[in-house]
Amino acid sequence: SPAAAARPAPAQVQGVVRGAAEILRRGGLVAFPTETVYGLGADAENAEAVRRVFEVKRRPVTHPLIVHLADSGQLGDWVTGTPGYARVLAEWFWPGPLTLVLPRSPRIPSVVTGGCDTVAVRVPHHPVAQRLLTAFGGAIAAPSANRFGAVSCTSAEHVADELGPAVDLILDSGPCPVGIESTIIDVTGDEPILLRPGAVGVDDLARALGRPIRTTTPLPGHRAPGQHPSHYAPRARVVLVEESEIVAEADRQQSHGLRVGVLRPPASTASITIDSALVIDVPTAIGDYARDLYRLLREFDRHDCEVVIASLPTPAGVGLAIADRLTRASAPRPAGTASTSTCAE
Ligand code: TXA
Ligand code: MG
Repeated sequence: SPAAAARPAPAQVQGVVRGAAEILRRGGLVAFPTETVYGLGADAENAEAVRRVFEVKRRPVTHPLIVHLADSGQLGDWVTGTPGYARVLAEWFWPGPLTLVLPRSPRIPSVVTGGCDTVAVRVPHHPVAQRLLTAFGGAIAAPSANRFGAVSCTSAEHVADELGPAVDLILDSGPCPVGIESTIIDVTGDEPILLRPGAVGVDDLARALGRPIRTTTPLPGHRAPGQHPSHYAPRARVVLVEESEIVAEADRQQSHGLRVGVLRPPASTASITIDSALVIDVPTAIGDYARDLYRLLREFDRHDCEVVIASLPTPAGVGLAIADRLTRASAPRPAGTASTSTCAE
């Protein structure tokens, strides 16, 4: 039966988590918190349960899921080889918001990987995710717990609003501390390739490896399944402009009779006064901006804004991931769910 479990007191957590693990064992779906965003979890070895994840999200079956493990010691059970530099990344950043794409073990049903011969793996550090993975004992396949193309959920309330009855249980642990998805790196080749900027900055990866990371993605001919130009989008249309153009753009959109929201950059708080439906100040610290981004985008929808005007932060550290999400949020939204690239071609 669908339910957002009331946020349990610490003493109750183990019992709730044991129940959640039991739901996964029976082929059910459990939404759970990670440090980045909430995930929609299924037993990674249960193809039928994984198929339901795609249905609930209305996600094209060519967009592979991330497989979550309790610790990196289990990696050998799910992949067929790990280059030395990938082990270095795992040691530095796991548990944490880094996802590594590696050759898939036959133990992973192909429905999880959307037909790819590789699998994306991550060891989250969120304590509730950790407890769930440990209680379950296996691998949990989990995409972000939102409808395909929409903004990821950083609270249990958002998951309940968006997926509600289709999920067997939502583990509520409050807001996600990082708030933006994991960084995804393809580590199947001679050198790492950034597939999705995320919570771990490219500079941190480069520091761990002692060499720069290629960030031009996707490389020509490289397969980056599930990377859709339009993604992470609120209902409102997102318009990106230079900071100096925000006021003029807000006026212009308003003169068309639209309900305009503005994501006001920190440095300009004093200088920009805007007459619009909703002005939200971006947090000054870039990490706080990442944590709050999806909640703020949902806030504009809650206020029925038709347009959100924003400018991109400096693409350094987690700013690169914020810039990526805002850019995808502003991309034209195609009708239907056609993907640009798949492994199944
Ligand atoms: O922070 C996160 O990564 C969250 C939490 C729940 O772990 N998960 C997440 O999953 O963001 P999702 O499904 O929204 O994004 C996973 C993306 C896919 O869209 C795809 O681009 C990439 O991971 N991916 C998965 N498997 C892949 C593979 N075998 N090769 C290349 N990319 C892959
Ligand atoms: Mg997602």
